[in-house]
Amino acid sequence: MAQKEQSWGSRVGVILAVAGSAVGLGNFLRFPGNAAQNGGGAFMIPYFTALILLGFPIGWAEWTIGRYGGRKGFHSAPMILGVVGKGRVARYLGVTGVLVPLVVYFYYVVIESWCLQYAFKYFTGGLGIRGAAVADQVAASTDTFALVTAQRADGAMFHADHMSVLVAFLATFVLNLYFVHRGLSKGVELVCRYAMPVMAICGLAVLIRVMTLGTPDPSHPDQNVLTGLGFMWNPNFSKLSDAKTWMAAAGQVFFTLSVGFGVIINYASYLKKKDDVVLSGLTASATNEFFEVALGGMITIPAAVIFLGLALAQKTTGGTFSTGFIALPVVFAHMPFGVVFGGLWFFMLFLAAITSSLSMLQPVRAFLMETLDLEGGLATAVLGAVTFVGCGFVMFFSKDLIALDTLDFWVGTFVIFILAALQLVAFGWIFGIDRGFAEAEHGALMRIPRIFKFIMKYVAPTYLLVVFVMFCVQNVPSYVRSLSETPIAVYSWLLILGAIAVIAAVTVLGSRRLRARGMDIDGKEEV
Ligand code: PHE
Repeated sequence: MAQKEQSWGSRVGVILAVAGSAVGLGNFLRFPGNAAQNGGGAFMIPYFTALILLGFPIGWAEWTIGRYGGRKGFHSAPMILGVVGKGRVARYLGVTGVLVPLVVYFYYVVIESWCLQYAFKYFTGGLGIRGAAVADQVAASTDTFALVTAQRADGAMFHADHMSVLVAFLATFVLNLYFVHRGLSKGVELVCRYAMPVMAICGLAVLIRVMTLGTPDPSHPDQNVLTGLGFMWNPNFSKLSDAKTWMAAAGQVFFTLSVGFGVIINYASYLKKKDDVVLSGLTASATNEFFEVALGGMITIPAAVIFLGLALAQKTTGGTFSTGFIALPVVFAHMPFGVVFGGLWFFMLFLAAITSSLSMLQPVRAFLMETLDLEGGLATAVLGAVTFVGCGFVMFFSKDLIALDTLDFWVGTFVIFILAALQLVAFGWIFGIDRGFAEAEHGALMRIPRIFKFIMKYVAPTYLLVVFVMFCVQNVPSYVRSLSETPIAVYSWLLILGAIAVIAAVTVLGSRRLRARGMDIDGKEEV
């Protein structure tokens, strides 16, 4: 089996790969908008609560389950969860562990290609944002964004003036397939090894630039570094009584850590029995937090306030992605050497995105190889065909980004809760918390504090359930309503259902095949 040849090149390699997966668009685009909207500095309270009560524990469970499954010869989420969760139910729920990375990839890689377009535009002379008043510049920037994302009409990417949209997408798409095809250590690990330090350097350069801006416009003394930081970080504690704040924090933690996405479970399955998972998990998460809080949290919003003023910053930094793509180009247009810093920024975003998108392809490829017994080349080809259809869907239905948004809501947010819960229950209740801890600490370089036994068994599942129910009550009705408002929401649903059906069918086939081979797919033997 080709899978057996896969392994990590080094211990640092796997940590870098998980950190590479974690550090992504979520850190630089999603976090700042989320924090600024949900209480600024006060957002850190629900954020760190979710990090400690959900992020770390579920992350440890995922690393441990993954390594255990790998030892039993499995690398895909359904098979690993079947073994740990002892049977069919867990295995079929484990289909979500392939669904999530696959469908999130469909749109994530599209956003990745926007970053490439922006970086390219900066490196070749800038965006040409002009106009006397800042408002005109924002309008120009909004236009550029609409062009780059082909947002004006469905199928706009085929128009002659959108050539670069198509080219950037194809380049990004091929690059991803190429690296995932090269296998773990020569693909994902290699890319992360170079990309992570380059990202840190680019990020720090932009950070220093922003922090040393002072008061660039003497006619607006109130627009300076301090007011920028204040807007982002001054705590607004009244937000803490709003359930939405707590949901946003939990969702952000999952998204940013790549926990509950079916990624870590696959990555950890290539570890050796005695490889550490506890410290590695913590290190990868801590690295992610550095990029998130120190770089993501200090650049976008403060920079927007410094140049645009509070009122405009508030307006342009609302949505999840608009901050980075609309506000920042205006900021760079004002900044000395803005073209250079703009290039560095978007190039960093592209690197952050590719290390994440590779981590979505890899679990799906492993699933194809394991269940259908495909050779590496064929697995890559099938993966390419499937993702081409999915990404093509998102690219084509580009008007107002409805397809992207619908997939992000249902799969990138809603299903995550289910997968995270499944992992918690499989680890804490079926596999057994004591056995789980003993398993986690095989070869571990540090112990998990004992209090986490209680947290993982009781607190985390309860917390998850409460947040999930609140989330459903608040958000699901409007998304269900959108089904009757636009056919694109319906198509997106059909795409998701189709993906579920195919993955489930392949899982059935795979289970038969592996069982016939005499493998213990229901986790009957204790190891
Ligand atoms: N963690 C990545 C980010 O912050 C997103 C991601 C999600 C990556 C799921 C892999 C899997 O952008």
